[in-house]
Parts: sequence; C-alpha cells; structure tokens
Amino acid sequence: MIDVNEKKQRDQWGSKIGFILAAAGSAIGLGNIWKFPFMAGQNGGGAFVFLYFAILIVVGFTLMMAELTIGRHTQLSPVGAYRKLKAKWAWVGFLGVLAGFLILSFYSVIGGWVIRYIVKALTGAFTISDPDALGGLFGAFITNPLEPLVYHAIFMALTLGIVIGGVKGGIEKYSKILMPSLFVMMILIMIRSLTLDGAMEGVKFLLLPDFSKINGGVVLAALGQVFFSLSLGMGTMITYGSYLNKDENLVDSSIQIPLLDTAIALVAGLAILPAVFAFGFNPEGGPGLLFITLPAVFSQMPLGSLFGVLFFVLVLFAALTSSISLLEVVVAYFVDEKNWDRKKSSLVFGLIIFLFGIPSSLGIGIWSDIRIIAGRDILDSVDFVASNVLLPLGGMLLCIFIGWVWGLDNAFKEVTNNGKIKFPLMNVWGFLVKWVAPIAIGIVFVQGLIDTFF
Ligand code: PFF
Repeated sequence: MIDVNEKKQRDQWGSKIGFILAAAGSAIGLGNIWKFPFMAGQNGGGAFVFLYFAILIVVGFTLMMAELTIGRHTQLSPVGAYRKLKAKWAWVGFLGVLAGFLILSFYSVIGGWVIRYIVKALTGAFTISDPDALGGLFGAFITNPLEPLVYHAIFMALTLGIVIGGVKGGIEKYSKILMPSLFVMMILIMIRSLTLDGAMEGVKFLLLPDFSKINGGVVLAALGQVFFSLSLGMGTMITYGSYLNKDENLVDSSIQIPLLDTAIALVAGLAILPAVFAFGFNPEGGPGLLFITLPAVFSQMPLGSLFGVLFFVLVLFAALTSSISLLEVVVAYFVDEKNWDRKKSSLVFGLIIFLFGIPSSLGIGIWSDIRIIAGRDILDSVDFVASNVLLPLGGMLLCIFIGWVWGLDNAFKEVTNNGKIKFPLMNVWGFLVKWVAPIAIGIVFVQGLIDTFF
C-alpha cells in the first residue's frame, strides 16, 4: 500500500484488486479465526451467529460503504477527513486512533501465540488429541511469565518492520496467493472436523439458534464482533477508501469485503466447534479455544504436523495484514496531525503498544486473578472497551455525521460519482445510515452495557 502521509500527490490503488486485497487483508485476521469461534462458544452458539448475521446485514454493509465513501471523498485518513468536512468532528477520528492502540496491544499478544504454535507444530507437538493434555500444553505456555511476552515482542517487531520498511505493497501482493491458500486449508480442516464422531453436536450448537440465550450482553458482543471483524468503527476503511479512484464502484466493494470476511469466520467456526464437541473440549474455553482444539484435529489428519505448521503460518500472515492496518491508524495520526517523522512515530508507538499489551498477556496466566470489567480478565477487558464501546461509538457517530451533518445528498453524489454509477438501493442505504443504524447501535450499546454491568 501507499504511505498515508503522502498528502501532496496522493497515490491511488494500482488496480481494483490491490484495494480489495488490502481492505480484505485488514478485515480477515485473528478476528475471524481466533475470536469468532470462541465468542460464539461463549455467547450461546447459534444465537450469537444469528445475531452476527442480522447485525452484519443492517449495520455491517451500511458502515462499510459509509467509511469508504468518506475516505474516497476527502482522500484523507480519519482525523483529517472529519476535520475537512466539519472541524468540530475531528475528535471522532481520534476515538478511532485510541481504539487502534488498544486493539493492537492485545492483538499482538495473540499473534505471538500463533508464532509459538508454529514452533510447537514444527517440533511435532500435534500428535495428541486428549483435551487435558492439550489444555495443559497451552496452560504451561501461558502461565510462563516470560515466554508469551517474547513472542508478543516478535509479533510486534514483524508488524513494525513491515510498516517502517515500506514493504506493505509487497505483503499485499503475497496475500493474493496466501489468503486463498488459507481459505483452502481451512476448508480441509473443516471437513476433517465435520467428519469426526460427534461433530454434529457442534454444528447444531453453532447453527441452531437457541433464542433463550439472547440478552443485551450477547447482542452487544455480536455487535462488537461485527465491528472488530470488518475493521469498522475506527476509520481503517476511511483510510483505505481514501486511495480509491473515483470510477471505482464503492457498492461492490462494500458487499464483497464483508462477504469474504464472513465466509472465513463461518468456516473457522465450523472447523473448531464440531471438534470441540467431538473431543470433549469446553465450548466456553475462551481465548485459548483455537490453540487447544485444532491440534487435536491435526492429530487426526494424515500429515497432521505439516498441516499444523502451514495452517499457523498462514494465520500469522493473515494476522499481520490486519496488525499493520491497526498500527497504521495510530502512526498516520501522528504523522498527519502532529508532523511526526514516520519512522519515529512507528518505533515509539510500536514500543508503547507492546508495553501496554504486557498486562493483557500476564492476565491470562499469572495475573488471571485480576478481573476488571464484569468478571473479565485484563485482555478481555481491553477488548471489551475497544470492540464493544469505542468501535460501536465510532460507527454510530459516523452514521450521525453522514446522515445529519455532512448530508445524504453529498454522500449519494460521492457513491454514484455524480450519477455516473448506478445504485438502485441508494435510498435504502440512506435510510439505514440516517436512522436505522445509529438507533440500532445506540439501543444495543445502552442495553448491552446495562446487561453487562447489572
Ligand atoms: N479485522 C481484524 C480481524 O478480524 O482480525 C482486526 C482489526 C483490524 C480490527 C483493523 C480493526 C481494525 F481497524
């Protein structure tokens, strides 16, 4: 991709596929493969998935297009974009910077676990399927105070290296091969998982909604997951949209990216939860679920260890194409708004975010007694504030901004490139942006907080 600080002569995506790859690269990551399955496991399975789809349709597509529209219109990253359209709103862009900071702090911890599991797979640890043994393996890693931090540092260093080294364009080119490979690999794992004895229980758990499981907290969790998974609510898609050419059809992109993202999340869910039931793991196992469950599946596949290595390498790649977009939002703010040098700002924030992530890592292991938000450990609490508070707030404010401040007419002109591109559902989108999405987000947000805390 192109440097966000290049204001004067702004580059554009060399091709449509370049943009789709970068935006899909940001969206597809640990959110799909690691977070979606364990969130579904913790929040009632099918009920959570049902809500996820409902919110995706009403809010996800709508906001994807809203962010891309603002980005392409202003050709600026979030803070600058808001400032250009209405100076008083620039602080909303800053909320996104804060969200990016918080998310990357724990994202990098999990990215570190992925690297650790590449090494584990290489050393042939994936030959057992006993839940207690696999849980013990994960537990021993995470309760070691130092080891996870070393891997957290390695993940952050890789992210930094890509952002400073200006090789993001190259990384995005590789994603043309590696992302489809990840998808194929996940489908194979899913097939193995679905053919295990007792797998149907997991399929039922994931796909048949039990509506009695729904409460405000579950709806808020699904809302946060849609934002997190699609990289919405913090201006990432504003930034990517800012490189789009006026002739590009925003509508297609706003549909394709969420569909791709959701397909990956569903396949991940269908790879993990059937195995959870088949082997007798606990679906409410939380953040460790991916790491505890999949090795059991690999142990039941021919060439399982090799599979395990390849899988975790591809997951690492997907995680990096997301983490660079997270760091980018923070770095772009300091480069664009505070005139910092790009390299310095990457180094400084890479380090600060790494340090900030340390408690999240320790909170899964030796500090697991520390509970901050409604019984959540440190990592979960940081995630809660970022994904369930800041991102929905950022998304709601963006809708209010477009619907009531900047105006739907301006947005329509941008989407259709002054009438040159046809978009028959324009008014539906307008109604969703102006009324439905902000009100729905507002209600879920308030009720969700009430149900979470009381
Ligand atoms: N969407 C990424 C994932 O699902 O892993 C995480 C993420 C990236 C969230 C970038 C927000 C963001 F701006």
